[in-house]
Amino acid sequence: MALPIKPTILMIFGSMGDLTWRKLAPALYNLLLDRQLPEHFAMIGLDLKEQSPEEFQQRLKDGANNFCDCGKMGEKTWGEFAEKLSYLSGDFSNPEIYQAINGKLADLEKEWGSPATHIFYLATPPGIVETIVHGLGAAGLANDKRRARIVVEKPFGHDLASAVALNSILTTVFDETQIFRIDHYLGKETVQNILAFRFANALFEPVWDRRYIDHVQITVSEQVGVEHRGAYYEHAGALRDMIQNHLMQILTMIAMEPMVSFDANEIRNKKVDVLKAIRPITQDLVDEVAVRGQYGAGKMEGEKVPAYRSEPGVAPDSPIETFAAVKLFVDNWRWQDVPFYLRTGKRLPARTSCVIIQFRPVPHQSFPKMAAQTWQPNYIMIDIQPQEAISLRFQAKQPGASLHLTPVDLRFSYQETFKTKVREAYETLLLDVMLGDATLFMRADQVEASWSALMPILNAWAEQKPSDFPNYRSGSWGPKAAEKLMTKDGRSWMEPVSKEN
Ligand code: BG6
Repeated sequence: MALPIKPTILMIFGSMGDLTWRKLAPALYNLLLDRQLPEHFAMIGLDLKEQSPEEFQQRLKDGANNFCDCGKMGEKTWGEFAEKLSYLSGDFSNPEIYQAINGKLADLEKEWGSPATHIFYLATPPGIVETIVHGLGAAGLANDKRRARIVVEKPFGHDLASAVALNSILTTVFDETQIFRIDHYLGKETVQNILAFRFANALFEPVWDRRYIDHVQITVSEQVGVEHRGAYYEHAGALRDMIQNHLMQILTMIAMEPMVSFDANEIRNKKVDVLKAIRPITQDLVDEVAVRGQYGAGKMEGEKVPAYRSEPGVAPDSPIETFAAVKLFVDNWRWQDVPFYLRTGKRLPARTSCVIIQFRPVPHQSFPKMAAQTWQPNYIMIDIQPQEAISLRFQAKQPGASLHLTPVDLRFSYQETFKTKVREAYETLLLDVMLGDATLFMRADQVEASWSALMPILNAWAEQKPSDFPNYRSGSWGPKAAEKLMTKDGRSWMEPVSKEN
């Protein structure tokens, strides 16, 4: 069923970049195929490069062809989509481009006979954000608080101070209600399902706390290396690129208190409460709770791959981490002293994102030792990707005359249950911006609280350059120290079972 979306004009700044090509154009095309775009919809690409609208359309067609899992593209539907695309070239620091936008908006609204929602999507490097925001402000393009919206991509700053500065730039021109800060992990179906799983069921919530849960593991592992993004990554690293946003957002959904209503601000308030409760990490504790790594050369699925330091755009003595693991505590009644272990890295053996909630052992083992040899604690595994599934591990008696326990899984798979394609994160998020629903977007205080929790690690790492990089082989599960982070607590990382084939 199509959603009630008002006429919409989406303007993408930086539309010649990778994001538009790989993610936004395929997502919009998919939405058209699913008949989710409003009848009156236009997308205007904006960038420095001079080119004809046809050349722009061709680029997006290539993107949709390469990255849309919608099968072979039909010329008729592509034609329908292409009609909605136009392109304006210009320098974002020149007021002329904003005048041109104003003219284009007026023309489209006149043609449609209706006012439209104006979405300014910044798919640009962070350095140009301030210029664009001021350009939009000066041209009066942000004035209509209900109809004008701005979408900002990560990174939201480089550290706490720059995130605060970025938020203050945005809020000099836009109201917080107009700002949509994207973390694409929040658009993933299984991430959203965490709230349904926890709060639409009476079964799990009573055991969802320190009395029953031993610890939580969040793993986001990637097989890819840094690819062609060396120049960006050299200023980021795994902690900034992944943990500060994606993994911390997942943590908040696992740890937050039940929301009173399904209201964007209510949910965001509950998430901020978690981030604010993260136990401050003192500088002297950084080595105890955080591990960094950088991949060396190795083999991925039989193919030789280079070390990070040999990737294009990367310094030969780069101190940047491509792997990070941290142990955090959420100091509140629910979670006191329950560790949350987070890890992420590039060039790991599998592409997988998953959360494991491991329960405490049974208080008393009543079964004979022999029967319980393979006993394991219960856990819930939430697979975010590439499989979308939730499993519950428990013990069962093996069939047969003798008493032997064995761990088994109860598993719910999205694909098998719903027999439908799971919507891509960007499709969900673009629709939400069009609808004006900010539930899955990050508020300024969320972003700042997340930076604040991680700043001691970032500061310590910046002060002390690593002496052992590269310290893990491509194709391995990261540096040895990451194992130790768990084993010294008597625990271990669980190898995610859900792997991409
Ligand atoms: C991005 C990071 O935010 O997320 C990338 O900048 C990373 O470095 C990507 O590869 C991972 O996203 P996904 O959806 O493929 O898990």
